[in-house]
Amino acid sequence: MNKNFETLEYSVEGDIGYLTFNRPKALNAISAQVIEDLIEFSEWAKDEKIKGLIVTGSGEKAFIAGADIKAMCSMDSKEATEFSARGQKATLLLENLPFPVIAAVNGFALGGGLEMALACDFMLASDNAVFGLPEASLGLVPGFGGTQRLAKIVGINRAKELIYTGRMVKIEEAKSMGLVLSSYADKTQLIEACVDLIKKSSKNSINAISVAKTALNKGLELSIEDGLKIESASFGEIFSSYDMKEGTQAFMEKRKPNFKGE
Ligand code: CAA
Repeated sequence: MNKNFETLEYSVEGDIGYLTFNRPKALNAISAQVIEDLIEFSEWAKDEKIKGLIVTGSGEKAFIAGADIKAMCSMDSKEATEFSARGQKATLLLENLPFPVIAAVNGFALGGGLEMALACDFMLASDNAVFGLPEASLGLVPGFGGTQRLAKIVGINRAKELIYTGRMVKIEEAKSMGLVLSSYADKTQLIEACVDLIKKSSKNSINAISVAKTALNKGLELSIEDGLKIESASFGEIFSSYDMKEGTQAFMEKRKPNFKGE
């Protein structure tokens, strides 16, 4: 179902959802309204029967150029703490949606913009994409999860170097540090690649993907022993699903499975 918010657009084509951050005049910068819209969207979208979500920014120039600096400069500490907490809630909801969520990074992904992309399952990008956490150059620190999620992907040394210098990372380096999986000449090709990836995964059980995603996300926070317990529980849970019976039966009958996502 299509659904529009003040700062976000959501549409569905086939069984793929498209979420667009839509404040092009401010390079899609994240205001308090964007965060509230994203929370409302994510709480609603968890029940959407889609095979994947592609998250992108309006226009060709920016995915999201960060939190809205014009709005932040008049905040006091209490307001800033609340702004950060709401932004973090939005990233957590996005991170835990029960289907693949791909950040299609079509240009600048800076500050809070990179933090939104880090909450997606992974990033594909256009060749003109630029990444960074430049908060320290504004006298700020990352507030939507950047001090926590970046290191899990690029390692603590590289995360510290990027946050201390606030430097901009171009696409080849972003790929070489594992921040981005692959890149494309323009936004059209980028979106096509995201669609292609979701189509490949949608041949599999969305129920199995969702259970595996939960185990992957939770496991990152835990010791290996506790992570493995989650894996065993997930493994057991999946055995009561229709898709598990259908997938294994189809293998034995030498036919393609007909998954229902349940
Ligand atoms: N907040 C508010 N407005 C922004 C913005 C932001 N983060 N980024 C860009 N804009 C606005 C500009 O003010 C400008 O608006 P006006 O035309 O009304 O002046 C419009 O978007 C176009 O931007 P530029 O003219 O600056 O475009 P450019 O091509 O010259 O530069 C850019 C592009 C390098 C991305 C530059 O806009 C820039 O440096 N933006 C800020 C990036 C940044 O520092 N982000 C981190 C914010 S802090 C944060 O995110 C904290 C957190 O973790 C929660």
